[in-house]
Amino acid sequence: MSKAPLRVAVTGAAGQIGYSLLFRIAAGDMLGKDQPVILQLLDLPQAQQAVKGVMMELDDCAFPLLAGAVATDDPNVAFKDADVCLLVGARPRSKGMERADLLTANGAIFTVQGKAIAENAKEDVKVLVVGNPCNTNAYIARAAAIKVGRTNPANYHGMLRLDHNRALSQLAAKTGKPVAALKQLVVWGNHSPSMYADYRFTTADGASVKALINDPVWNNDVFLPTVGKRGAAIIEARGLSSAASAANAAIDHVHDWVLGSDDWVTMGVPSDGSYGIPEGVVFGFPCCCRNGGYEIIKGLEIDDYSRGKIDLTLKELEEERAAVASML
Ligand code: NAD
Ligand code: LMR
Repeated sequence: MSKAPLRVAVTGAAGQIGYSLLFRIAAGDMLGKDQPVILQLLDLPQAQQAVKGVMMELDDCAFPLLAGAVATDDPNVAFKDADVCLLVGARPRSKGMERADLLTANGAIFTVQGKAIAENAKEDVKVLVVGNPCNTNAYIARAAAIKVGRTNPANYHGMLRLDHNRALSQLAAKTGKPVAALKQLVVWGNHSPSMYADYRFTTADGASVKALINDPVWNNDVFLPTVGKRGAAIIEARGLSSAASAANAAIDHVHDWVLGSDDWVTMGVPSDGSYGIPEGVVFGFPCCCRNGGYEIIKGLEIDDYSRGKIDLTLKELEEERAAVASML
């Protein structure tokens, strides 16, 4: 017997990430090849025509798992009974624009959407914020949702998976090992150049990657800046922010959250106070996923170098939090 469809709300559906994301969700890449989905697409009024075009193309793919699709400019309609919400819609950073400028522009969007999710979605809805600055946008949506009640405050996430995947690829290239051989990576903190990609625990076919590389200068001067500034490098090269890789990371995040993962995954989740991160701050942590839930991996040793890096990215997030405090 086939499964009942799950409802997936996607905001910014007419945007470039949306265009890479929707077809893969409908193909079963995110929730499983036996899981029908209904897509609930939100975008601004002026983008409705473009969303209709995307829906025509979804139709033309004749995806066996696509059990329905609706387009709307009303968050209450888009999030109705949603099982998963992917909050992609936001103003993307363009050439030369600082992330801080995005805070005010996006804060209002996520207050409205957090409230609408809490009022309309399933009580156990899983929410992933992709739109930047994604940690703080997730923090805002969660704060608005908590005021309403009903949904699980632990289920409002920001996307650090793109940083995790970027770091994996850099480590694979450096060690000459396939990506699939690498385990136990974590990217701490904010989805911004301040993030701290930490391979102290990473193994390649069981061997320590740190010992294999044995080059602290490469870590500090090449690896961290390459991963941290990858978004800006892609904007520079493409004239547009990353889209297909961002969509892929969103699919990875939700896939592992729903279906489980046998390796560590980096998720931007509300802190439970672990590792000295104040409760509620949406922070990249090492997580493991099972039975449709996630847990922060506890008890990892934090050396002085790592503490410094973690404190730096936390400081940036606390500044972002202070900048939006009046909006909450
Ligand atoms: P885009 O400009 O191509 O598309 C954005 C879409 O969002 C547009 O269709 C726009 O109409 C819509 N939109 C704007 N405000 C909205 C609202 N209030 N409700 C619903 N829809 C709304 O942008 P994109 O390239 O798809 O990027 C989307 C976001 O994702 C940006 O903020 C970008 O910085 C971010 N991003 C995050 C990561 C990450 O790793 N977290 C990676 C890449 C991009
Ligand atoms: C990315 O990491 O590619 C995006 O967050 C784009 C950006 O604004 O840096």
